[in-house]
Amino acid sequence: MTSAQRPVALITGPSSGIGAGFARALAGKGYDLVLVARNRAALDALATELQQRFGASSEVLAVDLATVEGRRAVVERLARGVDMLVNNAGFGTTGEFWTADPALLQSQLDVNVTAVLELTRAALPVMIDAGRGDIVNVASVAGLLPGRGSTYSASKAYVVSFTEGLAGGLAGTGVRVQALCPGFVRTEFHRRAGIDMSSTPDILWLDVDQVVRTSLADLEAGKVRSIPGVQYKVLATAGRLVPQNLVRKLTNTFGNGRGRT
Ligand SMILES: NC(=O)c1ccc[n+]([C@@H]2O[C@H](COP(=O)([O-])OP(=O)(O)OC[C@H]3O[C@@H](n4cnc5c(N)ncnc54)[C@H](OP(=O)(O)O)[C@@H]3O)[C@@H](O)[C@H]2O)c1
Repeated sequence: MTSAQRPVALITGPSSGIGAGFARALAGKGYDLVLVARNRAALDALATELQQRFGASSEVLAVDLATVEGRRAVVERLARGVDMLVNNAGFGTTGEFWTADPALLQSQLDVNVTAVLELTRAALPVMIDAGRGDIVNVASVAGLLPGRGSTYSASKAYVVSFTEGLAGGLAGTGVRVQALCPGFVRTEFHRRAGIDMSSTPDILWLDVDQVVRTSLADLEAGKVRSIPGVQYKVLATAGRLVPQNLVRKLTNTFGNGRGRT
């Protein structure tokens, strides 16, 4: 661990969106960063910004988390110890499961699930030895509600279930874990996935700062499942209380459940 100096947070996917929001918020709280994504130019620009605005130092790891080598490089860095890990990199796709490119589906599973598993496994031993550390795994409300897309929702359900199970196992170790479950957030996500969001009502949109602020406050409060926004807290609660076949129908009708993987 790095307690003698500034604490260090490793964030996957900070080249845009929620990950960039975590990087700015944590740099503002005094962390140095390890920035992990494919777009080196974006990571270098962020590192410069974090240095100028907050005096934070950043290591840049420009790797593809869909590859074995990419994940191995991050695992090796985590084994040397970090104070916080934010498993945020992830993506969705459009089209139906049965016509989607199998290679793309596999890389989605590798980024959204395998990387979360391997990076968490790599970070924990040093944290447990130190008796402290934080891991935020970015899931989605899509992982809480049935009937909204297939592989993306399944990947996020894995992240929720994995993180909640892990929280039980880590009780008493001093290490905190959180499954962050945002609804729609204004980032590059939907454009990259090719998802048309033009008919999504304003009330369903969250902004990155709100999501990051809620996550960090919930971490301090010891909440394992963090759901930013009152509208999504209500939806998630309703999703547990209403019969699941009705939830499936509603999410397919109002959530445009077809054409998603
Ligand atoms: N936006 C939403 O409505 C929403 C809602 C719920 C949950 N989420 C989740 O929030 C997380 C962040 O998404 P976002 O909304 O901030 O989207 P975004 O702006 O598209 O950012 C995604 C990040 O993931 C990184 N990434 C994607 N594939 C990668 C790969 N193969 N290797 C390494 N990094 C990779 C991207 O970096 P590079 O392209 O540089 O590699 C980028 O930094 C995701 O896990 C997403 O599922 C988003």
